[in-house]
Amino acid sequence: MTEFAARVEQVSISGIREVFEAASEDAINLGIGQPDFPTPDHARRGAIEAIEAERTDAYTSNKGTRSLREAIANKYDRDYEIDVDPADIIATSGGSEALHLVLEAHVDPGQEVIFPDPGFVSYDALTRIAGGTPKPVGLREDLTLDPAAVEEAITDETAVFVVNSPANPTGAVQSEEDMREFARIADEHDVLCLTDEVYEHIVFDGEHRSPFEFAQTDNVVVVSACSKTYSMTGWRLGWVVASNRRIERMLRVHQYAQACASAPAQYAAEAAITGPQEPVREMVDAFEERRDVVVDGLVDAGLEVPTPSGAFYVMPKVPDGWCEEVLDRDVIVVPGDAFGANGEGYARLSYATGMDELKEALEIIDDATRAVR
Ligand SMILES: Cc1ncc(COP(=O)(O)O)c(C=O)c1O
Repeated sequence: MTEFAARVEQVSISGIREVFEAASEDAINLGIGQPDFPTPDHARRGAIEAIEAERTDAYTSNKGTRSLREAIANKYDRDYEIDVDPADIIATSGGSEALHLVLEAHVDPGQEVIFPDPGFVSYDALTRIAGGTPKPVGLREDLTLDPAAVEEAITDETAVFVVNSPANPTGAVQSEEDMREFARIADEHDVLCLTDEVYEHIVFDGEHRSPFEFAQTDNVVVVSACSKTYSMTGWRLGWVVASNRRIERMLRVHQYAQACASAPAQYAAEAAITGPQEPVREMVDAFEERRDVVVDGLVDAGLEVPTPSGAFYVMPKVPDGWCEEVLDRDVIVVPGDAFGANGEGYARLSYATGMDELKEALEIIDDATRAVR
């Protein structure tokens, strides 16, 4: 009888989903991984106009439309003064597919992939699906990833190390100095650095920098997406930027697994990136205001809270039984160990939820925290 592939048998459905399924219908949901804002009108119109003009009925080029890839390349120039050739971009079905392409194209069975722990759940799962061996690395006290810890974890078997800033689940933003170090490590050890920048525009303190800016070799690959920046998680549009030889390898996977990203989504993404950026600024301002309210509320409840500088998550240290107590009171939070063994003793809260609900949730959390102390 045909058995299931061992690679896939090792992967389980995300612990986050289990929390959602256990929750009641009118619970306040602080478990959400997507902005609670609408997709900007001009992005929607980009798709609608392309559909009406009959430009979305056929496959696009495998890498994506030339005009979308030009828009993405111009974005890197506009935002970071990085020169990117549109030929060195593949438009993907969200950041998720982009992560998959990088790992499929660069990881051989048994090779190791280093990633932050706690970290985004896909790094472990996609490493296993690629036949690789996950090598989670713990974080600093402020929940950033220490380049020295990455360097120490590198062995002859290491194929890739993952950097994610701003980070899910911590909200931590890596400093420029760290990003320079990640680039040096990729260069000196001749190991690929996958930099996951899907939250690149959601930064409150400091600024987003990328190891891609600093590397001397082509050992840095960038993954990003419209999903979080433009509140377009449902559109499924991301991309990967890399040297041409790497893009050509990733294209082999993308071409056969996906053919091309959805055409309407490509037109929406192009409009989002080239149109007015005010909706992004407004959303980031709202997240920053909520971040301050949530951090203050958690500190007032007596919790230790590393201040997140980006994304829309906060990861307080919590006492034993805290998540259960909060979940019992109908506030959904995600236990930190859903993001790796080092997440134990923490919880992830998302503030992609309206201010009134957040304030109500903070009062409930205050009661729950007293109850477990
Ligand atoms: C760190 C990180 N990378 C990648 C993704 C995937 O994003 P997308 O929805 O574009 O596939 C997510 C989604 O939550 C994420 O948090």
